[in-house]
Amino acid sequence: MAMINEESFIETVYMKGLQISLVASGDGTEVIYHRLEPETMWGIEPEEGWDSLEFLHILSGELTLPYEGESFKAGDSFHKHPITEHYIFKSIGETEFLYVTSQPVFHYYSKATKELMDLSVAIEEKDGYTVDHCQRINKLSMMVGEEMGLEKKRLKSLNIASFLHDVGKLKIPLEILQKPGKLTSDEWMIMKQHSRYGRELLENIGLPFLKEAGKVVEQHHERYDGKGYPYGLEGDNILTEAAIISVVDSYDAMTSNRIYQKARAKEVAFNEILRCRGTMYNPQVVDVFLALKNKIIL
Ligand SMILES: [Fe+2]
Repeated sequence: MAMINEESFIETVYMKGLQISLVASGDGTEVIYHRLEPETMWGIEPEEGWDSLEFLHILSGELTLPYEGESFKAGDSFHKHPITEHYIFKSIGETEFLYVTSQPVFHYYSKATKELMDLSVAIEEKDGYTVDHCQRINKLSMMVGEEMGLEKKRLKSLNIASFLHDVGKLKIPLEILQKPGKLTSDEWMIMKQHSRYGRELLENIGLPFLKEAGKVVEQHHERYDGKGYPYGLEGDNILTEAAIISVVDSYDAMTSNRIYQKARAKEVAFNEILRCRGTMYNPQVVDVFLALKNKIIL
């Protein structure tokens, strides 16, 4: 079995048929543990401008290069420097290997998230919020999620979704997003698509943790009484993560100075949240949120 135990992992990403965990990184080099389910394809390819070393060491199972007719078993290695063509490997049985590269690929996954975060901040600014809106939603949501005792996996999802909740506004025309007056019903219909767009965007990147966050993003305008959008989900059919973002987002919208709206006092916002407990908002979330009132110093 693996020569590496889970404590060695700095960060892990799960994808279809595949687990990859960063074991070590530094100076542009990364050592990445891979576990492939049987019959999983995995590839490396040349990238323009890179003169990187690519090294694979098989820990268990077997990797084949079907097109080249080669096979690598536990203890075998494969390396190229630089890589000049595409190599598509296939696992025979469950296979573990270490992949060492001087081209930081693991960072691609965090880079994808970072780019989405920058995008979210930019879009909220276009919508009249200050630059720290996403951070505030994220911080408050995590406070509530932790207080509610959400399990680790869901906290991770909440962490991403709370920051990226409005990323779908990217697809809303600016004349609607920035319209000074009231939206017409047609414009409002378009505006309401942003939660679904957000889910699609996160889903299309193809990383499982973003897909999970996408489900939450899609529900952040659902209401406890079923009168929200896009699906009119009711009560506990709404993901708790989404119910948390809904409360926090409303609170922040009420207490933020925006171009066309002056901030309301925090106490007014707390009362408004309480008034809509059980209609707009999940009562349990409201109770936890209000219990944290003194810590909410934003
Ligand atoms: Fe939204």
